[in-house]
Amino acid sequence: MTDRPLTGRARPDRTPHTLEEWRALGGYEAVERGLRELTPERVLDMVDEARLNGRGGAGFPAAKKWRFMPKPGEAPGDGPNYFIVNGDEMEPGAFKDRILLEATPHQLVEGAILAAYATHSTEIIVLIRDAYRDAIRNVSRAIEEAEAAGYLGRNVLGSGFDIRMWVHPSAGRYIVGEETALIEALEGKRAVPRKRPPFPAQSGLWGRPTTVNNVETVSCVSHIVANGSNWFQSLSRTQEGGTKVFAVSGRVNKPQVIEAPMGATAAELIEMAGGVSGNGVLRCFQPGGGASGFLEADALEVPLDFGHVRAAGSMFGTGTLIVLDQTACPVGVIARHMAFYARESCGWCTPCRDGLPWAARIMADIEAGSGHLSDLDILRMTVEVGGPRGRAFCDLMGGAMSPLGTGLARFGDLFEQHISDKCCPVARDHRRAAA
Ligand SMILES: Cc1cc2nc3c(=O)[nH]c(=O)nc-3n(C[C@H](O)[C@H](O)[C@H](O)COP(=O)(O)O)c2cc1C
Ligand code: SF4
Repeated sequence: MTDRPLTGRARPDRTPHTLEEWRALGGYEAVERGLRELTPERVLDMVDEARLNGRGGAGFPAAKKWRFMPKPGEAPGDGPNYFIVNGDEMEPGAFKDRILLEATPHQLVEGAILAAYATHSTEIIVLIRDAYRDAIRNVSRAIEEAEAAGYLGRNVLGSGFDIRMWVHPSAGRYIVGEETALIEALEGKRAVPRKRPPFPAQSGLWGRPTTVNNVETVSCVSHIVANGSNWFQSLSRTQEGGTKVFAVSGRVNKPQVIEAPMGATAAELIEMAGGVSGNGVLRCFQPGGGASGFLEADALEVPLDFGHVRAAGSMFGTGTLIVLDQTACPVGVIARHMAFYARESCGWCTPCRDGLPWAARIMADIEAGSGHLSDLDILRMTVEVGGPRGRAFCDLMGGAMSPLGTGLARFGDLFEQHISDKCCPVARDHRRAAA
C-alpha cells in the first residue's frame, strides 16, 4: 500500500493504463467489493469516517454533501439523480486535476462509480476543460473500456444498479467551474451561477437531484472503499483525511505536482520542488491558488489543510502553491491575477462586473509606473466592498479580492514605491544588482 495512493501508480510520462493494466495494479477491486458487498449507505459512511473534504476549493465534507441526495422514489417527479465530476480546472496556478485526468483515468472512473452508487445517481457526467484534450481522450477511453468490462451499463456486476457515464468538454471559462454555473452550461444555457436555495441536491441538472465533486475528491473514493476509513485518515497529519495533491509553481526550481500528507507544510513542499529559485530567498506564497491571500515566511511551517490555512489568514483552495522570491514583484503578480479575474467575470452582478475591470485597470497603471497614491484608496475600497462573502452573487469576486487585499496589507510599501518611483522597484533593483 502506497503513501501516495492517488499518484503512486501514475506513469511519469502520464500515459494512462489500459483496463487490464489497471486491474493488474488492483484496479476495480473496490468497485467489485463496493457494489457486491456494501450498501450505498455503507459506502457513504466510509467516506464520512475517512473525513474526505472536497478538493475543489471550499473543502466541504464530501459525505455531508452526499447525504442531501434523495434515495430512489424520494424526489418528486421522474428522472435520474446526477453525479457530476468537475474537471474544469482554470484557477491560476492549478494543474493537479490535469495529472489525475490524464494519467489515472481509471481511478476516476472507479471513484465516480462508487460515488454514484452512494448518491443513488445513475448518470455520471465528467466535465473537462476543453483545453485538456489528452484528458478528454483518456477519460473517454477509460469509460469505453469500463463499459465493455461491465463496470458501467445495466445491472453492474449483478448489483441491480444501472449506470451511464460520459465526458462533456467545457467551452473553457473559469466560471463554468462554479458548480451551479456548470449545471447551467450543461443545460446549454449561459454559464452564470444559480441562486441557492434550491441547492443542487434538491434541484440540479434538469431540475433533478445532483452532486458535483472535484476530480481529486472523486479519485480518493476507491481508495477509501478498498483500504478503509482509518487507513485514509491515517495518511493525513491533521484531522482532515487523506493525502493532498499539491501543484507547486512560481519561483521554485522544479515546478511540479506533489502528493503529500494533508498537513504537509509549504517549507517541505518548496524543498521537494527543488527549493526557491530566482535569488533563493522567499518573499511570499499563495497557498491555495490565484484566489488565495498571500502568506510570508512566518507561515512556512503552517500545516496545509483547510482549517489551518484559514486560521493563518488565507485559503487552502485547491492546494495550489504559488511561490515568489525576492526578485518577483507581488504588485505585478496581483496585476496579472486582476486581469484574469476581470476577464473571467461572468458579468451577472455589478460589484464583480464593474469592480474587477476597474481594479485591473488601476493595477495595470500602478505596475506600469503611471499610478497615483489616491488609487490605493480606491483599491482598498474595492476590497472592502467586494471582498466579504455575500457582497457578490458568487465567490469569484471575493476570491479575486484575496490577493489584492492581502497584497495591499503586506506589501503596501511596494505599491507606494511603484507610484513614487514611476517604475517597478523590484525589477529596477534586480537590474542594478545584476549590472
Ligand atoms: C469561480 C469558481 C470557479 C470554480 N472552479 C472550480 C473548478 O474548476 N473545479 C472544481 O472542482 N471546483 C471549482 N469550483 C468550486 C465548485 O463550485 C464546487 O464547490 C466544487 O466543484 C465541489 O467539489 P468538491 O466538494 O469535491 O470540492 C469553483 C468555484 C468558483 C466560485
Ligand atoms: S461574482 Fe462575478 S462571476 Fe460571480 S456571478 Fe457575480 S459577476 Fe458572475
